[in-house]
Amino acid sequence: MNICIIGAGYVGLTTSAALAEFGHLIHCVDINSEKIQKLQNGNVPIYEPQLKELICKNSDKITFSTNLPDSIQKCTVIFVTVGTPGLTDGSTDLSFLQSVFTTIAQHLQSYKTIIIKSTVPPGTNQKMHQYLLAKGVSPFMYNIVSNPEFLREGSAINDMFHPDRTVIGIAEDDKRSEVIIRDIYQSLSSPFIVTSWNGAEMIKYASNAFLATKISFINEIARVCDFYGADVLDVAKGLGADPRIGPLFLQAGIGYGGSCFPKDLQALQHIAAAKLVKTPILDAVHEVNSTQLEWYIKKLQEELPSIQDKKVTVLGIAFKPNTDDIRHSPAIALIQKLHSLGADVHTYDPKASLPADLRHIAIQHKSLKSSYIDSEAVIIATDWPEICQLDWKHVQAHIKGNLILDGRNCINREEVLRFGLNYKGVGRG
Ligand code: UGA
Repeated sequence: MNICIIGAGYVGLTTSAALAEFGHLIHCVDINSEKIQKLQNGNVPIYEPQLKELICKNSDKITFSTNLPDSIQKCTVIFVTVGTPGLTDGSTDLSFLQSVFTTIAQHLQSYKTIIIKSTVPPGTNQKMHQYLLAKGVSPFMYNIVSNPEFLREGSAINDMFHPDRTVIGIAEDDKRSEVIIRDIYQSLSSPFIVTSWNGAEMIKYASNAFLATKISFINEIARVCDFYGADVLDVAKGLGADPRIGPLFLQAGIGYGGSCFPKDLQALQHIAAAKLVKTPILDAVHEVNSTQLEWYIKKLQEELPSIQDKKVTVLGIAFKPNTDDIRHSPAIALIQKLHSLGADVHTYDPKASLPADLRHIAIQHKSLKSSYIDSEAVIIATDWPEICQLDWKHVQAHIKGNLILDGRNCINREEVLRFGLNYKGVGRG
């Protein structure tokens, strides 16, 4: 099948690579000519495990271009994977999506299945349908399908091939799209959940909000654990053993970040407020997340009352491991906070870099081992495998102080203690 994918970001590129692997012919389009040129030259502009390899492997089935009208003509199926950033009032910026639909309206000459994969607030698929009608496009020329993605950065390729579910939202009178979508995804064995447009849109927001809720819940429990000498890892294990709760997303830490949870939670609060629905649970999830770092900084200050001019090393810059994405990264917020307290901040990340405007507030090292030499404290901010498996003997021999703050509860406490270092985790002493 000839498939047009609009937007060469995380979702668009992962979808392109996977659908090409399924055997489809992919026309991936983006307005950013620099990005497209890189892709045409075989360079993938983001770090995502296996993505480059998969794009390379399927290079005969994927073309990259900036020519959207041409790709619309060539394809019967169009995936829309453009960004939908959050605005300061919590609403969602749909301008990229809107502009895609303007081009589709201008160039639609044969029947298309238009699949919206971008995360969009309930009512958006309906709105785009109304827009095409208002532009004079015949309703017999297209169907719009909502097909939200559940890809995690860092394991997006795996998630594409092994999804828990495939959600599709279709219009009531749409008798064609379900068959087409099932055909596109025929290599997958996951269950299909077929619902309305608004149902599919809500599933996406509710999923991210629930996962964020689990994280804030365990972070709140970690705060209490600290005062009662309970280890939050044991608590999470005991809690997660109940199948009604489940063990995932109960890793206490310095809070969630990324381009999805903060934005999607805010968007859900916003759309609820627009209908005068109160969201006390979502409000609390946000409140815990936005104060989690402060709690953790207090712990650092208890151990190191004055950090003015003290060398402190923050390990990790990315918002999570296996990505170079730094959007809403708690590690960056931590670096900024330490800088504002007067610390001499050093940092290291295997893939991510400090943004240009923050390079003056911390020194980013090229190697893990050089980053902590003579530091008073080492703080783990991102649970990269390389950081979780630090050589504690080397750390002990080269740091000036002895404080190890495990902001992701990802290192072996006993081993750290064995080398005479002072271990502080989140909700575990
Ligand atoms: C999230 C969802 O997990 C995906 O299902 C969804 O498709 C995606 O958003 C999206 O909307 O596109 P992602 O933001 O890539 O994926 O990353 P997560 O693995 O969910 O992690 C988000 C944040 O939560 C990270 O900062 C991570 O460190 C933190 N986290 C995660 C915790 O603090 N504790 C946990 O137990 C799990």
